Amino acid sequence: MSVISEELFKRNLPELFYFDDGSPVTPENWEARRAQLLEILSSEEYGFAPPSPEKVNVTVERHEDGQYAGKACVNSLRLSFETDRGEFSFPVMEIVPTGKKNCPTFVVLNFRADVPDKYLPAEEIIDYGCAILRIYYNDIAYDGEDDFSGGIAAMYDRGKYNWGKLRMWAFAASRVMDYLQSGTADYPDLSRIVVAGHSRLGKAALIAAAFDTRFALACANDSGCSGDALTRGKKGERVGDIVKTFPFWFCEKYKSYSGRETEMPFDQHFLLAAVAPRRVALGAALEDEWADPDSQYLSACAVSGVWDMLGRKGFITPDRLPLPGDCFSAGCIKYHLRRGRHFLSREDWQHYCTYILEL
Ligand code: GCU
Repeated sequence: MSVISEELFKRNLPELFYFDDGSPVTPENWEARRAQLLEILSSEEYGFAPPSPEKVNVTVERHEDGQYAGKACVNSLRLSFETDRGEFSFPVMEIVPTGKKNCPTFVVLNFRADVPDKYLPAEEIIDYGCAILRIYYNDIAYDGEDDFSGGIAAMYDRGKYNWGKLRMWAFAASRVMDYLQSGTADYPDLSRIVVAGHSRLGKAALIAAAFDTRFALACANDSGCSGDALTRGKKGERVGDIVKTFPFWFCEKYKSYSGRETEMPFDQHFLLAAVAPRRVALGAALEDEWADPDSQYLSACAVSGVWDMLGRKGFITPDRLPLPGDCFSAGCIKYHLRRGRHFLSREDWQHYCTYILEL
């Protein structure tokens, strides 16, 4: 048995390539299987999102030309849309390379409202010819215990959707996608719109791309537990840890898997698989044992066959666990393992920018 097959065998993962009735998953029925995976992830882990609004309106609150030595313009936008309980709106910072069209475009879920920011080196990203739309996650739903009384959580019946905040942040990324698709913005290459985030927001970026097929790629940096890392056999953070500290990130049901991970009818490879046949870029850091780089990598190994089945290249690696400095990007799943700690660094951004340029 190959090294990777042996590692995956030990994890004893729920079946991806067969339906519950035993019939095989094929390219023809893949969308049906994908819908099932999404249903399981919604009911067991992240909760359900409300239907997409019919229309997202945009207001330009501020426009600044000639920023970043003249290389970009910066717009402060406000997006608004109707919810079950009236209008909801949130700010988005838009940074567009001057005079460029057909730009690869990053929708970035970020921890801070500032641009540039330690996690968002805007000038470097612009220098790759990419546009940026920054969402500040607390503008969507407060990242703390508030009994779902504020932000977008308050705009819908909680009992009806039972969504956690990861799903809410992902929902906001899709509203930015609505704006990009509306034709109002003249710079994006609609076939190269990417959703990106770090850590908890890397989890949200994967959720956004899993549910919204308009995203060509998800860049999930150090997303780890309940993100890109396999849960079964995972080191570092476990379901019991994450639901204790961050219960509001998930639906109620997920909490019941604390200490019962092997009973989950899914694992995180379902989340990656739901992005197929589009692309996923995973970033890991050597010292980020809490996220567990090996379990992040094995998740990619576990789903590679989905892309193969769909006639695309999946995850192309040597038959071994990852080593520091590794970067595997020949297929539709990219993984890099950089040295250092949990962080969204310039080095990580270089990986994501070069990958998006290959799309
Ligand atoms: C905590 C949490 C992780 C999360 C991280 C972050 O460490 O346990 O699951 O990814 O915060 O978002 O920075």
